Amino acid sequence: MTNTAPKVRVLFVCLGNICRSPMAEAVFRDLVKQAGMQDIVEADSAGTGDYHLGEQPHQGTRALLQQRGISYAHAARQVGVEDFEQFDYLIAMDRTNLSDLRAIGQRAGAKVALLSDFIPEGAAKDVPDPYYTGNFEAVYHMVEAGGRGLLEAIQRDLAVAS
Ligand code: 4NP
Repeated sequence: MTNTAPKVRVLFVCLGNICRSPMAEAVFRDLVKQAGMQDIVEADSAGTGDYHLGEQPHQGTRALLQQRGISYAHAARQVGVEDFEQFDYLIAMDRTNLSDLRAIGQRAGAKVALLSDFIPEGAAKDVPDPYYTGNFEAVYHMVEAGGRGLLEAIQRDLAVAS
């Protein structure tokens, strides 16, 4: 018997992978670090579209993370069928991302869900796209609340599995 906890891998998914999912990834990673779980829980992000491949996060996302002292670097990438093998939780920012993601792949045991499913009273709500709204603060509040709820769900799942 070993005490080594299994790694849990989380992929946040939006359309362009430059605004919402990179912010969700960075904020979630910060929450994981605060919980001392950085050796157990890993996060990444990807987009369903290929419009911004290789680009760094949008200026609005970078500014907001910088204001909150969260350091983060990421090059946009597109989600692929192999991500369903790599990740345990694939978390979509809106309902279109969720249906696009489900059309790409699936794996028994991989949990595919909307971020807002992890926010009390927030189920089935989309994270509004700041690429169009310009409102990065609204995204921050949702990804922070959703990230906290998701981390609690992961902690519960780990407790059940151990
Ligand atoms: P994101 O926002 O999905 O939150 O990264 C978008 C970024 C780019 C585009 C749409 C949404 N675009 O159409 O290029």
